[in-house]
Amino acid sequence: SAIYLKDYRPPAFLIQRTRLAFDLYEDHALVAATLHIRRNPAAEPGEALVLHGQELELLSIALDGRELAGQEYSLTDDTLQVASVPDQFTLTTRTRIRPQDNTSLEGLYKSRTMFCTQCEAEGFRKITYYLDRPDVMAEFEVSVEADRARYPVLLSNGNLVGSEVLDNGRHRADWHDPFPKPAYLFALVAGDLRSVEDSFTTCGGREVNLRIFVEEKDLDKCDHAMLSLKKSMRWDEEVYGREYDLDIFNIVAVDDFNMGAMENKSLNIFNSSCVLCSPATTTDKGFQTVEAIVAHEYFHNWSGNRVTCRDWFQLSLKEGFTVFRDAEFSADMGSRTVKRVEDATVMRTAQFAEDAGPMAHPIRPDSFIEISNFYTLTVYEKGAEVVRMIHTLLAAEAFRKGSDLYFERHDGQAVTCEDFVVAMEDASGVDLGQFRRWYSQAGTPVLSVNGEYDADAERYRLHVRQSCPPTPGQADKQPLLIPLAMGLLGDAGNLPLQLAGQAPDPETGDNTHLVLRVTEAEQTFVFEDVREPPVPSLLRGFSAPVRLEYAYSRGELCALMSRDDDGFVRWDAAQQLALSVLEEVEGQILGGDAPVVDPLFLDACTVLLEDASLDPAMVAEMLRLPGEGYMAELAARRGGARVESIHLAREAVLKALAEHAENAWLDTYRRNVVSEPYAPEATQVAARSLRNLSLEYLALARPEHIALARAQFASAGNMTDQLAALRVISQRGSDAQRDEALDSFYRQWQSETLVVNQWLQVQAAVPGEQALARVRGLLEHAAFDLRNPNKVRALVGGFANGNPLQFHRADGGGYGFLGEIIEALNIRNPQIASRLLTPLTRWRNYAGEQGVKMRAELERLAALPDLSPDVFEVLSKSLEG
Ligand code: ARG
Ligand code: ZN
Repeated sequence: SAIYLKDYRPPAFLIQRTRLAFDLYEDHALVAATLHIRRNPAAEPGEALVLHGQELELLSIALDGRELAGQEYSLTDDTLQVASVPDQFTLTTRTRIRPQDNTSLEGLYKSRTMFCTQCEAEGFRKITYYLDRPDVMAEFEVSVEADRARYPVLLSNGNLVGSEVLDNGRHRADWHDPFPKPAYLFALVAGDLRSVEDSFTTCGGREVNLRIFVEEKDLDKCDHAMLSLKKSMRWDEEVYGREYDLDIFNIVAVDDFNMGAMENKSLNIFNSSCVLCSPATTTDKGFQTVEAIVAHEYFHNWSGNRVTCRDWFQLSLKEGFTVFRDAEFSADMGSRTVKRVEDATVMRTAQFAEDAGPMAHPIRPDSFIEISNFYTLTVYEKGAEVVRMIHTLLAAEAFRKGSDLYFERHDGQAVTCEDFVVAMEDASGVDLGQFRRWYSQAGTPVLSVNGEYDADAERYRLHVRQSCPPTPGQADKQPLLIPLAMGLLGDAGNLPLQLAGQAPDPETGDNTHLVLRVTEAEQTFVFEDVREPPVPSLLRGFSAPVRLEYAYSRGELCALMSRDDDGFVRWDAAQQLALSVLEEVEGQILGGDAPVVDPLFLDACTVLLEDASLDPAMVAEMLRLPGEGYMAELAARRGGARVESIHLAREAVLKALAEHAENAWLDTYRRNVVSEPYAPEATQVAARSLRNLSLEYLALARPEHIALARAQFASAGNMTDQLAALRVISQRGSDAQRDEALDSFYRQWQSETLVVNQWLQVQAAVPGEQALARVRGLLEHAAFDLRNPNKVRALVGGFANGNPLQFHRADGGGYGFLGEIIEALNIRNPQIASRLLTPLTRWRNYAGEQGVKMRAELERLAALPDLSPDVFEVLSKSLEG
């Protein structure tokens, strides 16, 4: 049941106009659809009409007004076929659906008291019979009728063109969206909602009414999202020349939502965790996430809606590009280097793992069983890195010409990744022939680099080898075009660069920075006039999503970390140094020796901490040790991860650094107090992040310092500081201190769902033998609900991903627990069930019994009857080979 990109065929029929009338009731909904259909002149003639439809009760069907008899059409579990139709006709259906019983949160469903929709990718077919594919684009007219008291607000896409109060306590609203769109961008909302309102005047003088709809209790949490929306609208005009195209733009917050948010035309629907914010209830990280996701969904209006995808294999066309756009927006709004470090961390920890695992796929997959499984870090984040590399290769000005051409050429069309690349080539004259392999090849390329200095000739040779490990279905890999941004660090700073045989580039004032174009499996770059042996500064700004291998000495890493011009390289050098120390200590532990942490590392960290001239946010990022998950991933590449020794090694290094620099940590903690009223802006965020990192180390240096965390917990005026203190107490405090803090936090915040979810997540990560029992207990807590994805992610995901030692318990209880939850959600919410499988799919990484037990749990699940396609696909691919 896999489908393949190579089998793509244009639709046999097109839909020009779609008219939908919804009647919403308490135990069902009626959907009347009138579709103006014609044969696609570009398709093969004579094909039957096959509409998609799932879990629909067909009440009537008529063609050009004539009711069809039973033998004139046929139904399967997911299609409706009409045997013979003319070249142009109107099809009318009436169906009954049950939104109240829809637990998959795809299609039309009920979240608490409101009706809402999620149609991407293939949810529309659970609403009515339709050609539910993105290359079928229609103009939508939608009317929504519902009880007026329960559902005073009735929304759909486009403009409100009519409304009527009906005599039976009901009312109706009529919407019209003038822009033809695929069904996945359809949305409907009905609820008892309040809104905050604002307006934005576009560069062309259009006055746009902006509204955010929420439940009454959340009215005070909309300001930041509204501000973010206005900033996004301005930024897209300034940076991409993209103006908004309707008079209204609506955002709705819903509590039950599988993903972050959805870009439905003019009616974006958000997971409430990705839109609601207030200083008291939201962390700095939360504020940044809201800003980024509001921007992401807004930017989709052009990169996704005006120009959409031909088929779902092209998903990265809109997602990779839009993630690149939102990342640049966030970089412009806050700290560019910190944003880059955060994104590189996600790539290296989570995306590289996906690319090395059984679900590895290219950013443009060539087959899938269930498309929902391909809303991945690879399609989104690696896809964004691929667009970023195009930006690097073309440079900003030509890239903008390319995006202008892309939007102009394809406005109103459903297109492919290839169309995007061609537009970039046509506008810039840059040949992206070899570069295209990034779209079709999976796996993380490895760049192995070494340097060779010839003092007599003052010549430096950089030897670069690229390779890419095999991934499922792709044994052999071709060399890629990899932009390798670099510099050479000398004793007194970065050296001028002169590539052999190349005239110095008069264009750029900066002659210490270059982007090398790596194209061969093996290649040597020769630099002339290099007066001293340099330390190469490589992959600056994370210029390509690759693993870099260079055998730096610890001294060289210290040099890069303290003196290189590139912020990303400084951070990366600190990480590499920490990793080499962590691996050394793990070796000592495994060999039965007492851990000894290299003083070179401890001193280098202390110097960083004491240098008040540095950006506190960067210092915090540099002193945050690589996580246990990432260490496990790296260890797996060397033959197999041992969860316990990784944990012990990391704890030992943390503690050594905590004790070594105790005074510096204390100073840092005291120095970085924010005395201004809370604002989620870069300076304050930076100070809080370094201060709260200091608190973590202090608690490790000496148990008495828990008092600092307790004081901070009690007096914090914002969620960033309160939650940071709660984490420290619950990780490092005594059982009594932990329970007291957790209880008091719950009492304080029990009416704030999003805060309670944080509380669940903190508890899922509490160390110790009792962890699994605690998590099981919380399943029964009033604050938990298996139907709500945010709560499942917080508690169950929080345990499986945030408590490695207890998830990987020797008795396999952690795996069994996760398996039970997946089993319970398999049919109820396949998307969430499938996502929860991720940690188990990594079974091959774990040495010994752990890997065996993880695999056994996957096998147990695979033997269950009635697996959803989502869960089936991940299980079968994980167990293959
Ligand atoms: N297009 C949405 C976004 O990136 C995500 C929708 C995901 N939906 C899904 N069923 N996987 O903002
Ligand atoms: Zn998106």
